[in-house]
Amino acid sequence: MNRWAWAEVSVGAIEHNARVLAGLVAPAQLWAVVKANGYGHGALCAARGALAGGASGLCVALVQEGVELREGGIDAPVLVLSEQPADALRGAVQHGLEVTVYSTAAIDALAAAGAHDHPVHLKIDTGMHRVGVAPGDAVAVADAIAASPAVRLTGAFTHLAVADEPTDPFTQEQLHRFDAVVGLLADAGHHPRVLHAANSAGAIAHPAARYGAVRPGIAVYGLLPGHGVAAQVAALGLRPALSLYARVSHVKRVGAGERISYGLRHTFARGATVATVPVGYADGVARRSFAAGASVLIGGRPRPVVGVVTMDQLMVDCGDDAVAVGDPVVLIGRQGEHELTADHWADLLGTIGYEIVCGISSRVERITVP
Ligand SMILES: Cc1ncc(COP(=O)(O)O)c(C=O)c1O
Repeated sequence: MNRWAWAEVSVGAIEHNARVLAGLVAPAQLWAVVKANGYGHGALCAARGALAGGASGLCVALVQEGVELREGGIDAPVLVLSEQPADALRGAVQHGLEVTVYSTAAIDALAAAGAHDHPVHLKIDTGMHRVGVAPGDAVAVADAIAASPAVRLTGAFTHLAVADEPTDPFTQEQLHRFDAVVGLLADAGHHPRVLHAANSAGAIAHPAARYGAVRPGIAVYGLLPGHGVAAQVAALGLRPALSLYARVSHVKRVGAGERISYGLRHTFARGATVATVPVGYADGVARRSFAAGASVLIGGRPRPVVGVVTMDQLMVDCGDDAVAVGDPVVLIGRQGEHELTADHWADLLGTIGYEIVCGISSRVERITVP
């Protein structure tokens, strides 16, 4: 062990989650999203688990993420989810990564990168307004794809903005706009083999969004896409795949009236045994965790973080309990009867589980467990 903090990632949990999702959406295919280092879980571990659980393909944000999968021995279809700089496209072509396009410039760039009959997916902006071709311009870009020997239209897709808020009618509106564009494409003679629209919440809560494939990310890791779909997600029995562990690195007794950490923002009302845990904001534990009222688990009980989290270390109040250097600490995961989840940290910090797991920095070693 190089340091007293590490993450354990259960490839079995990812496999289980993928299997549950694949079963839910069948006959639609499951294309698991493993961008951002597999949402912080490790891209190869995520890819292997998802494929073992029945995923037909994988999605990444960057060409280099797809190349990492290929270099790790993954030969399943991989889709890069948005247009990339021309310089990156040669890697996509060489490694057989399916590419997203929504402009004629991207088609030209693929041709310049040596693409020939390269599979591309046309991304249509149906209202998220992040990336994608405007519905009225989709046929023109599809015509340009058909006219170019560099590329072949394999898929057409869109992305949902509020799928995790199932009562919001805008998802239906987006699907309606998507269907209309698919109809226009067909009228113009373009028949992409696979249509896809659904992220995790779309795949789980909007059966109409499943089409030929779904692109779940967060649910593959056993986390919640949003509170609006909590009941549907709970019914699936997904398993959080990542645990974040540490060991107590230092213990001391601090007297009543003493204050602690930068800014001395916490004053001890009574004497306490204080354990130092060697993880900090450079590892992804937010500096504001103390102000937000965070706890970690030591000795089978939640222990409040006291004082601001520093770059490499944080301190916790263990009351009068016996705590020793080397004692196990759980930041995400289970200890005794208690469990702390990434979704719990997200609620505490006013963010989403995605940001918690993606925020665990590269200096925290990921250990893959069954
Ligand atoms: C285009 C696209 N599809 C699918 C996903 C997966 O979304 P989720 O993790 O909510 O399932 C993402 C994630 O941001 C995305 O950008």
